[in-house]
Amino acid sequence: MTDALVTPIPVSSYGAVVRTATPDEHAAVGELTYRGLGHSDAARPDPAREALLRDASARAAEGDLLVAADAATGELLGTASLLRPGSRLSRQARGGEAELRLLAVLPRARRFGAGWALMSEAIERARVWDAPALVLDTGPGNHASQRLYHRLGFQRVPERETLPASRGGHLAVFRYDLRASEGRGARDLGRGRSRRRTTARHRHDRAAWGADHPDRPHR
Ligand SMILES: CC(C)(COP(=O)(O)OP(=O)(O)OC[C@H]1O[C@@H](n2cnc3c(N)ncnc32)[C@H](O)[C@@H]1OP(=O)(O)O)[C@@H](O)C(=O)NCCC(=O)NCCS
Repeated sequence: MTDALVTPIPVSSYGAVVRTATPDEHAAVGELTYRGLGHSDAARPDPAREALLRDASARAAEGDLLVAADAATGELLGTASLLRPGSRLSRQARGGEAELRLLAVLPRARRFGAGWALMSEAIERARVWDAPALVLDTGPGNHASQRLYHRLGFQRVPERETLPASRGGHLAVFRYDLRASEGRGARDLGRGRSRRRTTARHRHDRAAWGADHPDRPHR
């Protein structure tokens, strides 16, 4: 575990922090993963996929189970599973690479920096493991996540896109070269970005949520 080495970082205008989930939070993180990836009683994945999403303890045992939590209320807003090189849950990593799976932010907490902060922290923790790269995959039509990965500095690797995606086509594979980016901390990118984010759009978002909006994030 690397959590002792990494200081929680502020991630959004709502003051969330990224940290390792504690064991007593694993059931809640399983539910967060399930909901954050768009599932509900009306939209259940196949049983094997549902078991993977809900079993946060298994993912914690394979590396580092990250959560983004509201700093004021402790509410869990997002999660990502960072898998050690050689993990049985990896499906894209090779040659000592770490893998990131199941990045998910609750729908009502999106576009406030939680996804960016979870990814930035995952990059730094994979670097501490001395992995040569961090890899991940996503749906070929998932433009929101692809934009996030591109902006963080991931490169798409089409030659590794062989696994079928559930809705057709192949999973898009992204790789972040940790050796090439040494000295350029992802959190530095995050800090620069945070400053940019406290501008017009956030003022607009805050006004748009309104104090009584039922889906307004806390604070
Ligand atoms: C992808 C996801 C994790 C992003 O989380 P988030 O907290 O909303 O992301 P952030 O607020 O940190 O956004 C970071 C950047 O990602 C990109 N991005 C995020 N959501 C986007 C969207 N809906 N459309 C376009 N770009 C988007 C933008 O570049 C954004 O920066 P900007 O706000 O300055 O433009 C979130 O939308 C989610 O949970 N989606 C469902 C699950 C999923 O697709 N997981 C990843 C693939 S397995």
